[in-house]
Amino acid sequence: MSTFTKLALGAMGALRPRPARGKAGKSIKLPAPDKSGGLPLMRALAKRRSSREFARKPLPLPILSSLLWAAFGVNRRGGGRTAPSALDAQEIDVYVALPDGAYLYDAKAHSLRLVAASDLRRVTGYQDFVDEAPLDLVYVADHARMRMVPVGQRESYASAAAGAIAQNVYLYSASAGLATVIRAWIDRSAVADALGLGHDQQVVLSQTVGYPRG
Ligand SMILES: Cc1cc2nc3c(=O)[nH]c(=O)nc-3n(C[C@H](O)[C@H](O)[C@H](O)COP(=O)(O)O)c2cc1C
Repeated sequence: MSTFTKLALGAMGALRPRPARGKAGKSIKLPAPDKSGGLPLMRALAKRRSSREFARKPLPLPILSSLLWAAFGVNRRGGGRTAPSALDAQEIDVYVALPDGAYLYDAKAHSLRLVAASDLRRVTGYQDFVDEAPLDLVYVADHARMRMVPVGQRESYASAAAGAIAQNVYLYSASAGLATVIRAWIDRSAVADALGLGHDQQVVLSQTVGYPRG
């Protein structure tokens, strides 16, 4: 769907998911992430960049697993994560939009829980490439987890936390030869509707990931 059509539908409050392509399971147990190898950090930093041209090829489950662990997985005893959060509130939830459904990443169980059995990739941003790239992540802040943070700072802290996750995804992508771009140009109410979010939940950013085109 073109950006123009999305803007028009968005203005009418009518930007909606497509039917799922394939049958979604209620949950997906991810294989163990590969925590070895990858590019040395400085080489990954040297390759980090935003790309907006994606092949349609799906991401294999082991790659999705490592990507999500790098993004915001549990990396130590006690439940610490790969990205920081103010007062360790861990307020960002990572939603995973795939062709067969939208899932919530459960970092503790390292698994995906189905939240919508529809293809809501095109709802995750106004840009056209988000519809067909194999994966769109959506970073959602749960303000209910930020009770210890002063109200006036919650949005900025949540944005900083989502930014750290996004950079993890950039670095993993650079290391694994994937293309990615973080995106703020989103119809946030359409995404919130499609994911069934509550009042305390705020759509912060979205990020597309896939194999580079061509
Ligand atoms: C908060 C934020 C929001 C962004 N929103 C978008 C967006 O909606 N669409 C997009 O294509 N790129 C978006 N970008 C990516 C920037 O355009 C990109 O990082 C910038 O052009 C620099 O390019 P580089 O990432 O390759 O260094 C965003 C970046 C940030 C940090």
